Amino acid sequence: MNHHRQELIYLVGFMGAGKSSVGVILAQQMGWPFIDLDTVIEAGQGATIRQIFEQAGEPSFRQLEHAALAEIVRKAPAVIALGGGTFVQKANFNLIRQTRGATIWLDCPFEELWQRCSMMDNRPLFRDRQTFLELYEQRLPHYRQAEFRIAAGGRSPEEIVQEILQLGLF
Ligand code: S3P
Repeated sequence: MNHHRQELIYLVGFMGAGKSSVGVILAQQMGWPFIDLDTVIEAGQGATIRQIFEQAGEPSFRQLEHAALAEIVRKAPAVIALGGGTFVQKANFNLIRQTRGATIWLDCPFEELWQRCSMMDNRPLFRDRQTFLELYEQRLPHYRQAEFRIAAGGRSPEEIVQEILQLGLF
């Protein structure tokens, strides 16, 4: 277990909250590499997240996700965009906490998440509105355990990055 804070920023939040868009800009501003967990998983498998869900199922995806996370937490300094379900898994939560990096929840209202995800077709857990809402509500208590919360509704990635930089984390 590491007792000092590592130069890691984890962006937490539901699908469509802007974790990747914010992460790219934040990393540029920090002068740190940006790592997108979903992209690391896809590169490692040579398959899209959707294909992994379809061919191997969600439990297998969660195992791959945990293994990929365990690799990238060693890459400080970095800004890391988690997947929407990453922080919810106890093993990931514990691993993240052990690194003592900063966890930032991009809190975006449900309607906006729904609108944004409706425009894209790359999310296996995006189906109908009701199941999307149930998943969102089920995950809120987990996201609330992030150290910092940024209101991400109706705001551009640039504005959100400015607010994160003002936290003066590193
Ligand atoms: C998931 C979110 C996705 C991706 C996978 C599962 C989830 O990431 O990891 O489809 O469980 O919410 P994004 O939040 O980047 O869409």
